[in-house]
Amino acid sequence: MGRPTLLTSVDRVREEGSWLFTVRDRHDATEEAILVPCAEGVEGWINRCTHEPQRLDTGRGVTIRDGEVVCPRHGSHFDACSGACADGPARDTELVGVELAVRHGDVFLIDDGLTFEHEGGIDDGESPSSSSHISF
Ligand code: FES
Repeated sequence: MGRPTLLTSVDRVREEGSWLFTVRDRHDATEEAILVPCAEGVEGWINRCTHEPQRLDTGRGVTIRDGEVVCPRHGSHFDACSGACADGPARDTELVGVELAVRHGDVFLIDDGLTFEHEGGIDDGESPSSSSHISF
């Protein structure tokens, strides 16, 4: 288990419907992740569909219907709690999970492979003058 990093509160995820944040992985690459409400509290997933590299939250919140995350590109439905897709082009795949712990209503990142960078998407952490992610 990694060092717990406070992300936000369960109440805030539930009030806003979802919560987008940016993490850094073991290879020093940045990734986006989302928190979504589920029956037991909240769950965390990498912000990427399993069908194509499409962001589930494009910056305007995750679309969730009947407890399922809906991909904005082709409409696959992923169970918000298990990450499993039972419907759509991503059928029989699972979202990549992010390890969390909830204590006293606060949500902590405890994933060994991920370090919290900032709230919001990758672009939200940049200064206005730096705008390129192009790498060679
Ligand atoms: S990119 Fe998500 S269902 Fe196709």
